[in-house]
Amino acid sequence: MSTCAIPQPLTHQPHVIVVGTGLAGLSAATQLTKHNVPVILLDRAEKPGGNSMKASSGINGAGTKFQSVPDTVEEFYNDTVRSAGKPYATAENIDRERRDKLIELVTKSSKDAVAWLSDDTGIDLSKVAQLGGHSKPRTHRGAKGKPPGAAIVGTLLDSLKANPFAEMKMKARVTKVLKESEEVVGVEYVDAEESTHSIRGPVIFASGGFAGDVHGMVNKYRPDLAGIPSTNEAREGSQPLLSEIGARLVDMEHIQVHPTGFLDQKGPSATVKFLAAEALRGEGGILLLDNGTRFVNELETREFITDAVWKSATKLEGDGDIRQWDVMLLLDEGAAAALDTHMQFYLWKGLLQKTTLGEIGETALETVQEYADIVAGKKADPYGRVAFGNWMLSEPQADSVVYVGKVTPVLHFTMGGVLFNEEAQVLDEQGQPIRGLWAAGEVTGGLHGQNRLGGSSLLECAVFGRIAGDQAAAFWKDHYLTAGEQ
Ligand code: FAD
Ligand code: SIN
Repeated sequence: MSTCAIPQPLTHQPHVIVVGTGLAGLSAATQLTKHNVPVILLDRAEKPGGNSMKASSGINGAGTKFQSVPDTVEEFYNDTVRSAGKPYATAENIDRERRDKLIELVTKSSKDAVAWLSDDTGIDLSKVAQLGGHSKPRTHRGAKGKPPGAAIVGTLLDSLKANPFAEMKMKARVTKVLKESEEVVGVEYVDAEESTHSIRGPVIFASGGFAGDVHGMVNKYRPDLAGIPSTNEAREGSQPLLSEIGARLVDMEHIQVHPTGFLDQKGPSATVKFLAAEALRGEGGILLLDNGTRFVNELETREFITDAVWKSATKLEGDGDIRQWDVMLLLDEGAAAALDTHMQFYLWKGLLQKTTLGEIGETALETVQEYADIVAGKKADPYGRVAFGNWMLSEPQADSVVYVGKVTPVLHFTMGGVLFNEEAQVLDEQGQPIRGLWAAGEVTGGLHGQNRLGGSSLLECAVFGRIAGDQAAAFWKDHYLTAGEQ
């Protein structure tokens, strides 16, 4: 019987350097190890996973085996273009072409991305919901167990930890990109003891966005958003490290405000908030003003709903510089049952409360009675909602059980970042690739325009992370592997 030796990296070889251990970085690293290319992941945080770890609604895929409602890449593409809005519609030819290619690629690759995570990696993504701005249910998460971000990140991390080609350094903050003769050749990083190290190799940036950098980059690009709380950890963006070596930054002013961050009554003025996942509305939840009325199609884009909150909801006073509004998220028992694990967490945290319609007030009861008629098809929704998830309450009474929580708009995602192409190469001011440098995930810009669709960030991380891994592996083999080792 012949035994097959497991390949091992050679100790003297340089690594491909991946900056960031969120989904983009983990996808790139996983792909590099598939090519038997040694990879070192550097992350400034104490624990791996970035914002990817928090993802709560899921990953988009069109035409997957889990969707029961027929869907096509073309419909997903059209929804993405509609959501991208003005930056797509009014762009000069070359920029529009570039954005178009990225949207085409990410929507076309979505089925494979879901299959990679579910079939090849073994993550449950069998439950599908319709999120805001989507014409079809296409956001995948697990039917039970951990929320999608934790499930995906945890599985990829475990597999990389067991792989001899992968190494990970936490508390390693990259402070400089090293460039020689027009090629990126490594990075400098600072460790927990504030010592500076340099390390050589091709580089993939997967360092995430800057929606938590409220006093720094958010303030620089969108001072009008001052005082809005965030779902992201407070850390500065890394895009300036890339613009320093010639990368072009695009769409930086497009910062997504998600309409529903939980206003925790135990700490209402917290500046970092838990997100009320869009799946809560996708599975049937509705939004009410403080007077008990509805005011918007809860499945419109985030941008649209946030604008409606700012126009219609009461602004809360008395929290210093923080700006918050008074909106109630309400789910019936049908919607709640479809969100089993999420509900357990939100109820345990006290972010949602179980109550009855009678407890909320007479107008809310009337609103829900009218809404039940809309769901039953007895009348059209004045706000245009046509998908109702798992809403079941057909004859609302004062003693009907519902789940409610207070929500307010929150900074959530940055659409802007480094310009890149379909090969995940970072582009300079002239639109030319910078040799030895790739990027994937939220650090990039030029795809989503003025509004990202829910579920498309995990998707872009998986799609472009893997592409970056493949491309950097080929480059490494050509430039870093000496002839005798090939
Ligand atoms: P991240 O996951 O943020 O990882 C970046 C990593 O880089 C971090 O660990 C950070 O510490 C590290 N880093 C940054 N700068 C440096 C540096 N200079 N040196 C070293 N390390 C550095 N999207 C969806 O598609 N579906 C969802 O359901 C969903 N839910 C979400 C829920 C919440 C609460 C939040 C906050 C976001 C959600 N998103 C969702 C958005 C999505 O999770 C993120 O946009 C995406 O995961 C970003 O992944 P990333 O790999 O690009 O960056
Ligand atoms: C959410 O669960 O609402 C976030 C989904 C996303 O940001 O894509």
